[in-house]
Amino acid sequence: MAKRDFLTLSDWNRADVDRTLDLAATIKESYRKGETTTRLQGRVLGMIFHKPSLRTRLSFEVGMWQLGGHAMMITDKEIGFGRREAVKDIGAVMSRYLDVIMIRTFHQSDVADLAANSPIPIINGLTDAFHPCQVLSDLLTLRERGLSADGLSVAYLGDANNVARSWMNAALHYRLDLRLGCPEGYEPEPEFVEGVRQKGVGTVRVTRSPEEAVEGARVIYTDTWTSMGQEAEAEKRRRVFPPFQVNSELLSRADRDVLVMHCLPAHRGQEITDEVIDGPHSIVYDQAENRLHAQKGLLAACLGA
Ligand code: CP
Ligand code: NVA
Repeated sequence: MAKRDFLTLSDWNRADVDRTLDLAATIKESYRKGETTTRLQGRVLGMIFHKPSLRTRLSFEVGMWQLGGHAMMITDKEIGFGRREAVKDIGAVMSRYLDVIMIRTFHQSDVADLAANSPIPIINGLTDAFHPCQVLSDLLTLRERGLSADGLSVAYLGDANNVARSWMNAALHYRLDLRLGCPEGYEPEPEFVEGVRQKGVGTVRVTRSPEEAVEGARVIYTDTWTSMGQEAEAEKRRRVFPPFQVNSELLSRADRDVLVMHCLPAHRGQEITDEVIDGPHSIVYDQAENRLHAQKGLLAACLGA
């Protein structure tokens, strides 16, 4: 059987994603009942981080423990990815010790390279291009609220970054009504929008008007204006993005039961106000918690357990 990597949501088909979400929900329910599991007993996850993390680190490590396995973090200082040692050799050697690898790095090509050189599953824990684990978890969070991604209106405000691209990938599988409100110069690459159009499942609309994006939306999603690795642009971005801030005024244009989502970390007072992130529509901590549960499903799926 071919090994099961999780590099982007677009590599998987809808049935794969649905099955993983089902598995995540089953494992979550069992955990809630206090049942213990040995599903991943004796299995070890290696975690490579080239960027900081709170949720990804914690959720993968705790998730492995809760499934009876073990997780270990390996920093770039130790392995010198592609510098101290070629990715080919790193992949081959790590695969002799580990059962699965999660990597958070800059270039998507490095993740693909590692996957091509490792006989064990590789999970993308965020790159400049995509954040598939985040959107997988978000889909679980929405399901728990009784919301199917089919027919769901999601307004994403801000930079068309890794999180936004993963939402566009989700629109390849689900009949999402995705609206991206982005400032000029920060819109998605045309090939992503065109890819969704050609697939003909979900829809993506790009607008420079935040008001138009959120009109009647059931979900409003936002993320940092400056992603990890873009710090040099932070000041410029802080000048451009303020009209796209998720605040009470903008919320009043959405569905009255709108859910507000943010992958976190949030920059309170920038992309989102305290009033909104701490308000009754916000489900940001449920999202954060579900990183744990969704990835337990993902690890079990990738390891065929
Ligand atoms: N949302 C998310 O990936 O958080 P971390 O960067 O803290 O892992
Ligand atoms: N777009 C953000 C997501 C952080 C979880 C970043 O890449 O920094």
